[in-house]
Amino acid sequence: MVSVFLKDDNIKVNVSTGKSLREIARKSGASMEFGCRIGDCSTCVAKVLTGNNLLNKINAKELLALNAMGTNEENLRLMCQCNIEAEEGEIIISYFI
Ligand code: FES
Repeated sequence: MVSVFLKDDNIKVNVSTGKSLREIARKSGASMEFGCRIGDCSTCVAKVLTGNNLLNKINAKELLALNAMGTNEENLRLMCQCNIEAEEGEIIISYFI
């Protein structure tokens, strides 16, 4: 199991491999906001404080959207494009950035 801590809502859930962060946010009642849900609008941008290596790698669409934001901040991801690939570990996310 992977522990996911949504810091800004103080929500912690244990999830299995393959779960999407969008699904985790929705099911846990997190206040994280989503728009297009396909990696175009950047509404769901968040900072992965811990555990970015437990997620899928950034895809081309996500990279394009993040670059368009013009920020140099590290470990920003689009939550609608992130899936958990590891079998165990801890992920900590902040979306009030
Ligand atoms: S909801 Fe639009 S990029 Fe994630």
